[in-house]
Amino acid sequence: MKTLLLSASDPAAPAIAAEIIRNGGLVAIPTETVYGLGANGLDENAVASIFAAKGRPQDNPLILHVAQSSEIEKFCHSIPASAYTLAEKFWPGPLTMVLPARDIVPKRTTGGLNTVAVRCPDNDTTRAIIQLSGVPIAAPSANLSGKPSTTTAAHVLHDHDGKIDAIVDGGPCRVGVESTIVDLTDARPRLLRPGGITPEQLMEVLGDLVIDKAVTAQIDKDAVVKAPGMKYRHYAPAEPVVIVSGSREKAAAYIHRHFVPGDRVLCFTEELPLYRDCAPLAYGSEADVNSLSAGLFAALRELDDPAIHQVYARCPVGGGVAYAVQNRLKKAAAFHIVDAEEAP
Ligand code: TXA
Ligand code: MG
Repeated sequence: MKTLLLSASDPAAPAIAAEIIRNGGLVAIPTETVYGLGANGLDENAVASIFAAKGRPQDNPLILHVAQSSEIEKFCHSIPASAYTLAEKFWPGPLTMVLPARDIVPKRTTGGLNTVAVRCPDNDTTRAIIQLSGVPIAAPSANLSGKPSTTTAAHVLHDHDGKIDAIVDGGPCRVGVESTIVDLTDARPRLLRPGGITPEQLMEVLGDLVIDKAVTAQIDKDAVVKAPGMKYRHYAPAEPVVIVSGSREKAAAYIHRHFVPGDRVLCFTEELPLYRDCAPLAYGSEADVNSLSAGLFAALRELDDPAIHQVYARCPVGGGVAYAVQNRLKKAAAFHIVDAEEAP
């Protein structure tokens, strides 16, 4: 199959992409978070081809992307008032809500669950594609399963050239990490994945938020969890990643003591001079957490090279968007963290 490359600036692109979606095909779509691998979310066969292209476990459900918040009533029931408030405040934007699913949503889309995740992406081209296709677009991040997410069209082409119908190139993704996921199906709202909408912002609306343990710790592969995707190895380059926490000076001293040729250092731009001999790669500025979230996956993909022995990574501290960056880096590192203030 030849993968068609469409530019989001081409006025004809949305109609061409929508036609492919309506016919059961696969189109990679740009969003403000990461590129998604989209198909008709109500068509079991189209959805099955997403799982096949990604090599994704069948029990890992997909997010349904809608063009406007009023559409969620077609796919969800028993919608709490808080969902409408969140949609009003944060949509279109990097927030996904888990709600009870209506029967119209195939079990293949929900991974067999009776809930469904919905989100309205902040990307005009992609919302136009959804609108024109007349169906909700089911789209996981467009990376191969387990690999770092795709934040440019080139990343998608690398993973899927010749295997999907089309890619809509909308440039690099602004947020760079996947959407925040909040589960609204329990008595208390629960954060399943941190992202561009911060826990602090959610708390302001909801007044209450449980942080699911999959956010902060490694989950056993056989565990029953709220977000099935959280238990799989994720975002991981080929080699082991270890996070080195602590002050700039202590971390640099620790890394210099342990660095061997073949290792790499993933750090902040401010730290590049400290690691001149350690093959450093900066993913953004420590002073600008949005640059870190926007740059993280491209850097992890660049480091996805079997020739690399080990990666020492520096991670931002604090809440807000830094919380999402910490979550993705910790998962890439399988929660392997060394405290440079104390480690020998
Ligand atoms: O930003 C994003 O959310 C991107 C873009 C393309 O929109 N999509 C994305 O999809 O990150 P994916 O498939 O890579 O991650 C979806 C996550 C998985 O961890 C999955 O387990 C969880 O959402 N999920 C989906 N449906 C769910 C449900 N009904 N209940 C709990 N978790 C669900
Ligand atoms: Mg993903």
